Amino acid sequence: MLHDRDFARIAEIAYREFGLHLQSSKKELVQSRLMRRLRAIRCPDFSLYCDMISGPDGAAERAELVSALTTNVTHFFREEHHFRLLEEVCLTPVLPALRAGRRLRIWSAGCSAGPEPYSMAMTVLNLLPEAPRLDVRILATDIDPAILTRARAAVYSDDEVRSIPEPLRRGHLEPAGPGQHRIAARTSGLVHFAALNLMADWPVRGPFDAIFCRNVAIYFDKPTQERLWQRLASLLSPGGLLCIGHSERLHGPAADLLSSAGITAYRRAGDILQRSERTKR
Ligand SMILES: C[S@@+](CC[C@H](N)C(=O)[O-])C[C@H]1O[C@@H](n2cnc3c(N)ncnc32)[C@H](O)[C@@H]1O
Repeated sequence: MLHDRDFARIAEIAYREFGLHLQSSKKELVQSRLMRRLRAIRCPDFSLYCDMISGPDGAAERAELVSALTTNVTHFFREEHHFRLLEEVCLTPVLPALRAGRRLRIWSAGCSAGPEPYSMAMTVLNLLPEAPRLDVRILATDIDPAILTRARAAVYSDDEVRSIPEPLRRGHLEPAGPGQHRIAARTSGLVHFAALNLMADWPVRGPFDAIFCRNVAIYFDKPTQERLWQRLASLLSPGGLLCIGHSERLHGPAADLLSSAGITAYRRAGDILQRSERTKR
């Protein structure tokens, strides 16, 4: 049984460390999700669990906590219009420049099991088959180490790959056992995975031509979302694209830097051809 006092401790840690905003109406949900975790690690009660995640040795278990409290739901080409925009806004206008050595940096922030960054890689390779030999990189980050292990493995079931358009499936998937498919090496090679908590420091400097941060900020309260949008917007190159989740809204200071580019899509002012060259990752 999760007592109010323990719920308050968990909510405080989840907010401070990860930006997760757990209202008291979520107490039952939190209880049922964490009960499974307590059973798995044979922890007898929530009070001991709170001690465990509060202590200096609690970092690994705090990562498990965020994993238990958030959903990893994702799929290939989710909100396909964002991938069309990526093509039209960030790729097509700069194709000659990319072939001549211009950098291209894309970030999937909150990438879950990988379908989002791999869909980006397929979109890039579809227009630019020589991308693996060019200065093209997709950074994919998530807070959850377990989901990143899955993403790096790049193996998906029949069901999971169904949302990849048929012509792309032929070029980017290889058989990986019965009912399983692996993302082809030249596709997965464009994507670099790293653990990153969006609430902490980011070891990235930018600028990025496109950032997708979709269905992550739903867990954050409004001030936390505003800070996140502003930090992301400031990392976009001129003309760069920011795509957010279908139920999320852009507000706060970022709205002054960005203008609408479609449904839950925004662009930074400026010409994408005039980007600076200070990208680090
Ligand atoms: C619902 S998935 C979204 C996946 C993908 N962006 C999409 O839209 O299909 C949300 C992801 O955000 C991650 N996440 C939650 N809080 C985070 C934080 N503070 N920093 C980084 N990632 C976080 C979760 O681990 C989860 O994998």
